Amino acid sequence: MRYPQKVLDDVCRQVDFVEYVKNFVDLKPSGQSWVGLCPFHAEKSPSFFVSPGKNSYFCFGCQQGGGPLSFAMKVTGRSFVDCLKDLAERANYTLPVLRGGQKEERVNRAGLFEVMKAARDFYHEILRSREGQEALDYLLGRGISKESIKAFGLGLAPSDWDRLSHFLSARGFSTSLQEQAGLIKKSQKSGKYFDLFRSRIMFPVSDDFPRVVAFAGRTYKPGDESAKYVNSSTTPIFEKSRVLYGFDLARPFIRSGQVAFLVEGYLDVISMHAAGLKATVAAMGTALTQDQVNSLKGSAKEIQLVFDSDQAGLAAAKRALPLLYNADLDGRVIRLPSGHDPDSYIRKFGSQPFLELGQKAQDLCDFLMEVLVSTNSNTVTGQGRIISEITDILSKVPDLAKGQFLRNRLAERLSVSAKLLPLKKFDDLKKAQVLVKPLPPVDYHPLAGRLLELLIVYPQNQRFITEGLVEVWPQDRTKVVIEDFFNQIKENQGQAQIRPEGFLHSNDALIESLVAKALALPPRLNPGESERLVESIIGKFTQQAEIKRNKEFTEAIKRAEAVGDYETVNKLLAAR
Ligand code: UTP
Ligand code: MN
Repeated sequence: MRYPQKVLDDVCRQVDFVEYVKNFVDLKPSGQSWVGLCPFHAEKSPSFFVSPGKNSYFCFGCQQGGGPLSFAMKVTGRSFVDCLKDLAERANYTLPVLRGGQKEERVNRAGLFEVMKAARDFYHEILRSREGQEALDYLLGRGISKESIKAFGLGLAPSDWDRLSHFLSARGFSTSLQEQAGLIKKSQKSGKYFDLFRSRIMFPVSDDFPRVVAFAGRTYKPGDESAKYVNSSTTPIFEKSRVLYGFDLARPFIRSGQVAFLVEGYLDVISMHAAGLKATVAAMGTALTQDQVNSLKGSAKEIQLVFDSDQAGLAAAKRALPLLYNADLDGRVIRLPSGHDPDSYIRKFGSQPFLELGQKAQDLCDFLMEVLVSTNSNTVTGQGRIISEITDILSKVPDLAKGQFLRNRLAERLSVSAKLLPLKKFDDLKKAQVLVKPLPPVDYHPLAGRLLELLIVYPQNQRFITEGLVEVWPQDRTKVVIEDFFNQIKENQGQAQIRPEGFLHSNDALIESLVAKALALPPRLNPGESERLVESIIGKFTQQAEIKRNKEFTEAIKRAEAVGDYETVNKLLAAR
């Protein structure tokens, strides 16, 4: 599977390319562009240009040119996919998950939602039955009320190997669907299906609609030494990095208060809700992601991160800070006394003291700096470590303005000059010149290259892009470009201007360079001059196409005559 062209185009358009290039090249503004010393060949005066509007680069010295992907691959020597992922992250863009094309079409999403719902009901009934008494006692013993059990749809997976599977099959759900939903699995040994969740208290996980998309199962039997929580694996309807536990219930409360509490555990969410703190969500037992933060963005202005210890909090805060900044959300930190998580704290002290902690919650930047300063010694090495931690955080804020703002703010907290907090630089710049392959010699029709340039540099010439032009265009590597331009015009009904940027990551270094050069060139001719040039080149193409057709015609006649095929000769002559 490959990423669709549209994804590449979007990533390349959305990334702050100038900012990215600055990691490698000292760029200075120059008119509409930025200019610096080319990283791809040795030079003393700058001939390397970056056009911010087009997200393209071109070196007038060595002719290397293209877009963000082409630049990233050349300058880092990393693979296409690695570079795409890196750029996407900087652009705050979530790449689609690639799956086998055929398989994807066969996914029955509606069926998956159905089977998950049936499983939730099954688990819930078991918890309410006599069989569920021990699990129910465990929950009640932990202060989880029957109302909470109902509100969160908690359930129990029985200890048998295949009860769920039998139940679902009897309801008409195919084993293949159950398997795709991550509920059952085929045993390698016996070839029989078995339930994945057994002897666990079940926490259904819902998406925004809400529909059940996954489960978390917790051990509850004394002496059960297996992993405390087991989560559903990734399925066509579930990616843990995109879901927040409790969000379906919390959303109206987050919206009304504009604040969301972010806690760590499933039971923390449930206890908080039960105590009336209903604007509470948790990540799925993994580190917070940009997607999760973005989903809060629509409802909240501020996230209050609840940390149980400074140690765990430091890692979480480092992770969260750039994510919140990228989503325009304020962050504050609630620090619980050591040994407490939100669940235990609220059960011991109640919701009022928790709210008071919330009122005094510390700004996320301040918290981060305080912990960094207190955990690193006040030596040159210690300070250096702090700077490198901060540099790392800053490198995750792709937006230039926000990054600078954050940089100044962190510098101020640290009482150092912001200049000491560099944006992260790649250390392999020196290798770039060795990595980049010199361009192959130009092997396309020189006039074709010139004409493409005239069409890109002078948009008013795009009215010459017709089917007739495509027909007479020389048969070389530039032909795909004019064909694409013509298709764009057809699709846009001749309205919008053509976009050549897709060819900046075309896998054809000569075409990348040609298009990048055209995008870098300032228009120097007046419209009349450029039009006359275009017309004369098209005239040449038409002539050459005519000559070629005549030659082919004569040769076909000759071939037919040579074998005495006069029928064909007559047909050819008649068709003329
Ligand atoms: P904790 O171990 O702090 O558990 O893990 P907890 O939420 O306080 O749960 P209780 O109170 O002991 O029942 C916090 C979160 O980390 C994830 C879960 O999301 C859990 O809620 N986790 C923990 C796992 O995914 N797997 C594990 O084995 C343990
Ligand atoms: Mn807990």
